[in-house]
Amino acid sequence: MKITKLNLSSFRNLKDVEFFPDEGINVIYGENGQGKTNIIEAIWLFTGFKSFRTRKNSEMIPYNEEKYEISMDYFSENREQNIKLSSDISKQETYKNGVKMVSPRSIIGEFFSVVFSPSHLNLIKGGPDEKRKFLDIAISQLKPSYARMLSDYVRSVKQRNALLKNFNDTSYEYDMLDCWDERISTLGGKITFERLKYVDELTESAIEIYDGISSGKEILSVKYNQVGREAKNEEKEITDALCDALKKSRENDIKNKFTSKGPHRDDFEVILNSKNIKNFGSQGQQRSAALSLKLAEASLIKKINDEQPVALLDDVMSELDTSRQDYILNKLKDWQVFISCCEPTQVLRMQSGKSFKVENGKIIF
Ligand SMILES: Nc1ncnc2c1ncn2[C@@H]1O[C@H](COP(=O)(O)OP(=O)(O)OP(=O)(O)O)[C@@H](O)[C@H]1O
Ligand SMILES: [Mg+2]
Repeated sequence: MKITKLNLSSFRNLKDVEFFPDEGINVIYGENGQGKTNIIEAIWLFTGFKSFRTRKNSEMIPYNEEKYEISMDYFSENREQNIKLSSDISKQETYKNGVKMVSPRSIIGEFFSVVFSPSHLNLIKGGPDEKRKFLDIAISQLKPSYARMLSDYVRSVKQRNALLKNFNDTSYEYDMLDCWDERISTLGGKITFERLKYVDELTESAIEIYDGISSGKEILSVKYNQVGREAKNEEKEITDALCDALKKSRENDIKNKFTSKGPHRDDFEVILNSKNIKNFGSQGQQRSAALSLKLAEASLIKKINDEQPVALLDDVMSELDTSRQDYILNKLKDWQVFISCCEPTQVLRMQSGKSFKVENGKIIF
């Protein structure tokens, strides 16, 4: 998947920005507050019409204006295609190859990209819920049935919790608990199984990418933790282990009015040279690891869809040493990459690609 032309006619502080990216590396540089991240954010919107920075669509409308409008030509499925997005305060519209789509978010699945911004360091430094969210979004993208399963699971846990909240020790309530335990173990078993499978494949790619970034000096691994139960790998075993764990924790759950076991409590650890990187990794190592996970996510998208996602890397260069930066600038072959950075000397080390200077919402040629 390659973007051939971007037209950001009005978006945040960007005005009439039009450029033709390289099919390899594109470095977007400039001083703070000029519009670099805004360009990355605009490109990301084509993936699903949802920002990675804000939930509020209206924030992207330029100050004192009524709408934003962005358009992109890209090469996919062996032909040139176009997506145009526009939005005012109340409605979003999507056009694919000039035809208006039924729903603005039908765009999902047309254009693939992965974004890495400083906030994605939460993949390493953040709590378990942020890490689970990363897995859930990534798996749902590849397998829409997973998203449905997950929402059924979340609903079942909520209902079990509601039952625990007003528990009066009646036999009817115990029967109800049995029902929820069975439902939660069945759905939870499937979810954990999918997550384990995904983490396995992700790890395989991430190890390779991290090895490249660190020039073979450090070894990365990822471990999924089935919190509060024995680690199992097969769906049936996982389901049985969860069912057991729910039974064992029943008394406590009634006391605490909360379901304490299941994939909604799981976590994963990123390990570098046998130590948890969250506690022992340096800033550069943590950033390299988070980046490797994101790029590995892109490799898995490619495996399934046969299209290489575009990599959007916002501010990755700071905290990386020269050899790690060189890997990003020169070794991501076959990828179209957009990198934003402040320091233009980094640009000069590119062996190929294009660089664009952003100043006050415009690209300076
Ligand atoms: N809706 C909007 N309308 C107009 N300008 C906006 C809007 N939202 C943000 N901006 C402006 O966009 C600029 C920030 O752009 P951006 O985040 O892309 O900067 P940047 O070049 O990435 O800077 P840094 O190097 O600090 O990350 C700010 O000056 C901000 O005031
Ligand atoms: Mg920025």
